Amino acid sequence: MTEPAPAQFTGPSSFVGPDRVLSGVQPTGDLHLGNYLGALVKFARLQHEIPTFIFVADLHAITAWQEPAKLKGQVREIAAAYLATGLDPKVATIFAQSAVPEHAELAWVFNCVARLGWLDRMTQFKDKAGKHKERESVGLYTYPVLQAADVLVYKATKVPVGDDQKQHLELCRDIAAKFNHDFDAPGFFPLPEALTQGPGARIMSLRDGSAKMSKSDPSDNSRINLTDDADTISQKVRKARTDPDPLPETADGLEGRAEARNLVGIYAALAGTTEAQVLAEYAGQGFGAFKPKLADLAVAVMGPIGAEMRRLLDDPAEIDRILGDGADRARAIAAPTVAEVKKLVGFWAG
Ligand code: TYM
Repeated sequence: MTEPAPAQFTGPSSFVGPDRVLSGVQPTGDLHLGNYLGALVKFARLQHEIPTFIFVADLHAITAWQEPAKLKGQVREIAAAYLATGLDPKVATIFAQSAVPEHAELAWVFNCVARLGWLDRMTQFKDKAGKHKERESVGLYTYPVLQAADVLVYKATKVPVGDDQKQHLELCRDIAAKFNHDFDAPGFFPLPEALTQGPGARIMSLRDGSAKMSKSDPSDNSRINLTDDADTISQKVRKARTDPDPLPETADGLEGRAEARNLVGIYAALAGTTEAQVLAEYAGQGFGAFKPKLADLAVAVMGPIGAEMRRLLDDPAEIDRILGDGADRARAIAAPTVAEVKKLVGFWAG
């Protein structure tokens, strides 16, 4: 049997609801500069423009083994990072995914909408599973289906993420469109857009310009963690792999120089400017001159975030209060969506 082509379902959505932002981060290890520039920095900005829902993805976390006694603490750490990077719990809705059961409920329905062939194409599963996919959890395979439910249970229209999540967002659109089609509910779900613009969308490892900066890289020198102190940040920048050539005048000159491009991109993202502007300032200078400037900038931006996270984590009860309040507000939106879905599907309990 041939697999249905997702393309047949895509097309303009007739969704007419309000714009909503939704995104999340997994509580699986230290947050790093890539998470900050690819995602967190955008959350804080968007909250003032569009109603914003930001959660900690603890259901996703257990697709790989997590120590039960530590998981709650890991969730609080991500919540502290959200707050320390500028999310205001009075403005944005901040919560833990496991506190809103509607995510998992909608994910089951979506498991029956998504096609195996669509999931077989997901590159992140292939990267994570490697050669031994039979040893991975079924959850890791259907992970992007739960991600689609995370977004669509709020009928969110904008999803700020790094480049590595683009394919998952395409799948989310395909699931939304097929659901709307199969249940004869045009425009019921929006076709959400991934917000990946800007130089921070793909931050690479400081040790290898061809690998993404990642929580799971065994080398701690490959990334700057949100909790690193000033000395550690400076040292990691100084040790970052580079090449012997000076910085070029235009971005074209970074072609084939992955490490150089990465450091220029990091500078641009941290300074809130563009690669072209960074090169206009530093063209002709070598990394001996550029790295100390980058280190100073990274310390100035990241240092206070780490300090604020440590301060917030001293009061776990306050973080729990914020997450509890966020969960109530999130459920007030998610529950009616699931009630409508149950009616559309024809469930007995609807
Ligand atoms: P996670 O926890 O792996 O990463 C959190 C966010 O950080 C971004 N990111 C990066 N951006 C730039 N450069 C990098 N090197 C880099 N590494 C990570 C990711 O793109 C992400 O935006 N599946 C998601 C969590 C999730 C989610 C969702 C996101 C679950 N449900 C619904 C949006 C909407 C994840 O594992 O992110």
